Amino acid sequence: MTMHMSQAALQPDAGASIRAEVHAGLRSSPKTLAPKFFYDDLGAQLFEEICEQPEYYLTRAELAILREHAGAIADRIGPNAALVEYGSGAGVKVRLLLDAMHSPVAYTPIDISHAQLAHVASTLGRDYPGVAVRPLCADYMERLELPVLPASTKRRVAFFPGSTIGNLHPAQAIGFLQRVRHAIAPSGALVLGVDRRKEKGVLDAAYNDAAGVTERFNLNMLERLNRDLDANFDLSRFRHVAFFNEEASRIEMHLESTEDQSVCIGNEAVMFSAGETIWTESSYKYDEAALANVAGAAGFEVKQLWTDGDERFWVAYLEPSADR
Ligand code: TRP
Repeated sequence: MTMHMSQAALQPDAGASIRAEVHAGLRSSPKTLAPKFFYDDLGAQLFEEICEQPEYYLTRAELAILREHAGAIADRIGPNAALVEYGSGAGVKVRLLLDAMHSPVAYTPIDISHAQLAHVASTLGRDYPGVAVRPLCADYMERLELPVLPASTKRRVAFFPGSTIGNLHPAQAIGFLQRVRHAIAPSGALVLGVDRRKEKGVLDAAYNDAAGVTERFNLNMLERLNRDLDANFDLSRFRHVAFFNEEASRIEMHLESTEDQSVCIGNEAVMFSAGETIWTESSYKYDEAALANVAGAAGFEVKQLWTDGDERFWVAYLEPSADR
């Protein structure tokens, strides 16, 4: 379901469908919970805090690239573009693009966190009076109805920062990019943030910050289920586990049950054995070949890559392949 901000105050996916998805995830093997359940208002806030941790280099690296190369990216995008951002979060990165772009006509932030989206829409609308800001509160993994664009729009450009592409399994990433390609057709482009594959020690540290913010963020998913779905997870009986799986080239984030236990979600019980985990997130790390593969399979061509001084992250500029 997608929802324009002017409609009902309900969160998208509220109630029954969340419950069904959570139950299905906890009944499957291995147990899983979808990352979008992280982002209630507290989760969205904790995520902003993760981005400030010294070990979590991703946000700083991406911002450094955007700061240094915004002009070059804007030149690639060209004049009178309409920007659509998938997962706008706190709305910081897009300002660097909008500031550099040549007379952008519209900006559609898409996010599942209603409070954050409302804030971004109102502040951006105020700070960029020439840009038509049309927010969309939605799970962008579902089918979206994008707002109608001003007639002066020259092309649509999708912005997908934060290496969120890495939070999708490669097959899902290809499916998502295909939908983006349709959304920006026929003459659009995609600006994509991607975390680069690197040494395991650096990656493990990034998802196990010493201050324990990522741990709180992960555990907040259980607190949220307690609150929203009348569950009774005991947070002292689960622990945060995150590690780089080198074979799959991904960080895996889990919540591990420290003992045999049974948990109720509403009136349904779920059993956990000691050491069993709920898999809450993956974060794939790409090298150039893997990125070109996923992009190519979705009908995109990587036209340009920018990296930071430490070569940790990429901002990529993609266009639909010529043969599509
Ligand atoms: N996409 C980013 C990453 O993979 C941000 C992110 C998403 C994240 N979910 C997360 C960071 C969970 C830490 C924990 O790193």
